[in-house]
Amino acid sequence: MRGFLGGVVVTLLVVLGGAYLVLYLGLFPIGADNPPGVLERRLAHTAIDAYLAKNAPKQENPFQPTSENLIEGARKYEQHCAICHGGAATRISPLQNKFSPAVPQLVNRVPHDPDAEFWWITKHGYRLTGMPAWDGILSDDEIWKVIAFVKHSNKLPPDAQAAWQAAAR
Ligand code: HEC
Repeated sequence: MRGFLGGVVVTLLVVLGGAYLVLYLGLFPIGADNPPGVLERRLAHTAIDAYLAKNAPKQENPFQPTSENLIEGARKYEQHCAICHGGAATRISPLQNKFSPAVPQLVNRVPHDPDAEFWWITKHGYRLTGMPAWDGILSDDEIWKVIAFVKHSNKLPPDAQAAWQAAAR
């Protein structure tokens, strides 16, 4: 049993030491023009899924997708989010692939993720990706309306569609 435990410890030290050596020798590319590798992506997604499951609120969006709410969401989205996530004028942001990982183009292909998870991500951001925490810049209610807009951006009523186009000018 002691021999087995010793083997486990030595293996762990070799793996951790090897990983540290890669970083120490400058072999890990830090530029944002390097897409994340498979292992990096898998580890990040495991952490994200587990953390969101634990921390995102378990609730529906408290704001109904009325024209008024969607218009407010569209305006805030254009002002703060379109530069990276794509907007009414440029559905695919030129910055899309300038981040590592690439930025999801939220209004080009509307995701199905629960509103509450997107609300949490927008409020708190994503470490090490370029996604800022908007807490203190947007209120909680404004974030819910931005998310309602994102989720309805491919089926907006005409007045909200017009307000969105106008906000992009
Ligand atoms: C400076 C660029 C930038 C700005 C501005 C920005 N984001 Fe992001 N956003 C990112 C990046 C980078 C990611 C992370 C991509 C990843 O990890 O796959 C991200 C991820 C997200 C995600 C998760 C999407 C998914 O499919 O998992 C949501 C939701 C989001 N942002 C919402 C917003 C909202 C709402 C705003 C405006 C209030 C905003 N972002 C502003 C760069 C930005």
